[in-house]
Amino acid sequence: MARSRQLIVVLAVVLLGIGASCSAVKRFVYVTLEPDKLEARAPVAGVGSHSAQACGACHTEIAAEWASSRMGQAFTEPLFAHDYAEEGEPYWCLRCHAPLEEQQPILDEGLRTIRPLSAKGEPNPHFDAELQAEGVTCVVCHLHDGVMVAGIDDPQGAPHPAASGDEAGEACERCHQLAKPPLSNLDGPLIDTYNQWRAWQEATGRDEDCVSCHMPTVERAVALGGPTRMGFSHTVPGAWDDALLADALRVQGMSRTDGAVIVEVENRTGHNLPTAEPARALVLRLLDADGGVVDEVALLRRVPLPKLIDEGDDRLRPAEVRAIALADPGEMGAQVRIVLDRVYAHRELAQAAGVPQEAWEGLIWEGAAPVVD
Ligand code: HEC
Ligand code: HEC
Ligand code: HEC
Ligand code: HEC
Ligand code: HEC
Repeated sequence: MARSRQLIVVLAVVLLGIGASCSAVKRFVYVTLEPDKLEARAPVAGVGSHSAQACGACHTEIAAEWASSRMGQAFTEPLFAHDYAEEGEPYWCLRCHAPLEEQQPILDEGLRTIRPLSAKGEPNPHFDAELQAEGVTCVVCHLHDGVMVAGIDDPQGAPHPAASGDEAGEACERCHQLAKPPLSNLDGPLIDTYNQWRAWQEATGRDEDCVSCHMPTVERAVALGGPTRMGFSHTVPGAWDDALLADALRVQGMSRTDGAVIVEVENRTGHNLPTAEPARALVLRLLDADGGVVDEVALLRRVPLPKLIDEGDDRLRPAEVRAIALADPGEMGAQVRIVLDRVYAHRELAQAAGVPQEAWEGLIWEGAAPVVD
């Protein structure tokens, strides 16, 4: 097993070495990194635009929720913006961070170079920089064959075709699940949230989906002047939402013996904790009475980029309960603190992108360690 994997690595290195000139390799990489063929779509009938700004004229509250969401900021938020620029603006990133045809500056028709990843093609005559800045915009999830689809059974007074369906809630997989990168020695895809969620459903028998946990229900008018309805919040809280982090795990118990504090934690998310972005870590700390760090354990998937090799993955699996030991000199007044470090393996990127240090970590749980026996 290990030997055949090594062979694959050697093969990959050789192929990458000649990749710059070998069009068969390029075609393979390109096809693998090109999930959907993008098509120009006519502006929405009755609205005349694909822009969230146009939707916001009527769907004012939803547009404001969405603008505050991570997906509404998927092109402009500083970590992505900085990373994208540093990497030389690879076409591939836009497949998820700004996926509409009009959001692509070039209509790519094949791979130009593998390192850096760049496409060849003509400048896109429909390119719209303002729309690109909208990131994962409304029509990405809602426009299907010219019709605006969501969960309302009897839409009233819409200027555009509207219909009831589940498509928007089923859209998550498209970007929250990747295939394993071609020619890499990774143990699995870099983004694997959808498959982890499937595993969670099998393990627990529960039927909540991404929307159940990430789009809490709200009561509001769906469009200005329309009736108040039960709807789903478009703030889509995730790792950057301190309130959601409180639901991420449960401390089932704690004991203190033999120079260790043992913390028993249960993963309460619907996937691994943390799930996708390999820069993140679940961090458990033992603090002394003055708040000084006595011991720290970080759980994460270690993938030092750009090597694309897995060097260990000790994240909590779906629904897993695990006992974690923190070394303990036995002092009085000790505290246990559990945080999500959002940029654990991305310190340099976070610093360069100007993400304030107080935002790097979000608190999940804090409590006193049991007294020493
Ligand atoms: C990432 C996908 C996604 C994006 C982007 C998105 N929505 Fe939604 N939207 C959903 C889901 C999921 C639902 C709830 C389930 C359903 O109704 O299908 C929903 C529900 C709705 C509804 C029905 C009312 C409600 O609150 O449930 C409207 C109207 C709507 N969205 C409009 C918009 C507008 C306008 C934007 C942009 C400002 C937008 N959506 C952006 C996925 C998305
Ligand atoms: C001129 C006002 C107006 C504009 C502009 C507008 N909508 Fe709507 N939309 C409505 C109204 C009114 C409804 C029905 C609301 C109700 O029944 O409560 C609706 C319903 C919807 C629904 C629900 C469909 C269903 O049956 O579940 C979606 C999704 C939606 N709009 C998305 C959008 C998107 C995306 C845009 C921008 C591209 C947009 N709308 C632009 C007024 C508008
Ligand atoms: C077109 C691609 C696309 C689709 C479809 C999509 N997402 Fe996302 N989503 C993204 C991207 C890209 C980000 C990260 C933006 C950033 O932070 O730079 C993101 C971020 C998120 C986050 C925040 C993650 C964090 O880092 O905290 C959550 C939660 C989320 N999406 C849930 C959903 C749900 C639920 C659906 C389906 C209703 C969905 N997404 C559909 C691309 C998508
Ligand atoms: C049972 C509830 C639940 C379900 C189901 C669920 N999530 Fe989550 N998710 C959470 C909680 C709680 C967090 C916050 C902890 C964290 O950041 O990992 C989270 C975090 C995330 C994040 C932030 C990444 C990170 O750092 O871990 C993303 C992205 C995400 N979820 C996407 C999804 C998608 C996509 C689905 C469906 C395939 C989904 N979630 C299903 C509860 C859920
Ligand atoms: C398959 C879809 C997809 C592609 C392609 C993609 N991303 Fe993302 N990206 C996401 C999702 C989803 C998230 C949200 C975090 C998560 O799932 O852990 C994300 C998060 C990020 C983040 C971290 C944001 C945060 O909140 O911490 C950065 C930085 C980023 N992406 C950069 C890039 C760059 C640069 C590229 C191109 C080289 C790229 N992404 C390609 C889907 C994608």
